[in-house]
Amino acid sequence: MLKSSAPADLAQIFEPIRADLDAVEEAYATHIQSRVELIPQIARYIQSSGGKRVRPALLLMASRLSGYDGDRAVLYASVVEFIHTATLVHDDIIDDAEERRGRMAVHSRWGSDITVLLGDYLYIKSMGMALTHDSIDIVRLLCDVTLRMIEGELYQLTKAGDADISEDEHFEIIRRKTAYLFGGAAEIGGRLGTGDRERQQALREYGFNLGIAFQLVDDLLDFTADRAALGKPVGGDLREGKVTLAAIHLLRRTGGNGRAGELIRSAVNDRTISVESWRELSALLREHRAIDYAYGKAVEYASAAKRYLNAFPPSAERDALLALPDYVLARDR
Ligand code: IPE
Ligand code: IPE
Ligand code: MG
Ligand code: MG
Repeated sequence: MLKSSAPADLAQIFEPIRADLDAVEEAYATHIQSRVELIPQIARYIQSSGGKRVRPALLLMASRLSGYDGDRAVLYASVVEFIHTATLVHDDIIDDAEERRGRMAVHSRWGSDITVLLGDYLYIKSMGMALTHDSIDIVRLLCDVTLRMIEGELYQLTKAGDADISEDEHFEIIRRKTAYLFGGAAEIGGRLGTGDRERQQALREYGFNLGIAFQLVDDLLDFTADRAALGKPVGGDLREGKVTLAAIHLLRRTGGNGRAGELIRSAVNDRTISVESWRELSALLREHRAIDYAYGKAVEYASAAKRYLNAFPPSAERDALLALPDYVLARDR
């Protein structure tokens, strides 16, 4: 039996759905079979590199919370992990990121030509998997959130290197590239189990708000994390030309000019930052409480997520979904 690979604290939260998560790993292994050996070979490399499996877990817990105990939840959970995986392999090409989950990114190892096609394969495969059941509404939802994610990546590219990006524009990127898929995963879980539209929407809102908190924290970790724990280099966002919330706030606090402005602008223009400048910038972010500001926003969204669970009676799954936003706020990887 293939085991799911979440870190210890997450594994505890995922305990009520552990068997289903293991089944998602089995499904993953089954669906990557192909006569072209390169496909299972790369997909196994990705699968065995870990990954938190937050999106499939969210779908599974939402379905259980909604009273569903059939086998379609495992299928759709695998679908959302496939979509996520496709996004990551493409994202690392776009971001020129060499490392992912503590290993070489797929494109670093196999090259971009192969990686683009592998990502395409995973996207189409995911839709094919979703179509094995006769629920066109769920396929439509999956298409919608995936298109929004791609739009988010594209919109982000149009803003690359722009130190004058507004907070609103930045949130638009976050919603699209991360939050809709989280919302979709939770909503699909809800749709499997309940015909109650309000509960389905509450789950969608839960996932959506959780997704925003998740991305805000991901962006913060890029400033504050330990590289080894994170499994990808820190400081990458600025070097990729991405000015995320803490930096946006710092620029606002310091009037956009001054030393902070200089450091951020030169990092996103030159796509590099020296160790000394990085230290200086980290100190300024703390001094001006820019990290606290962005973290405060993450706390707000995580709390909002939890409030949407009030509509559900107490259960082990509800407890797990209530614990997930706290994990997201505390995570270091
Ligand atoms: C990474 O997602 C991309 C973001 C939305 C920040 P995860 O942090 O869920 O990636 P894995 O699957 O656990 O590696
Ligand atoms: C998240 O964006 C990727 C998507 C959800 C499309 P990032 O570029 O911030 O993700 P990481 O930092 O590479 O994991
Ligand atoms: Mg990236
Ligand atoms: Mg990131």
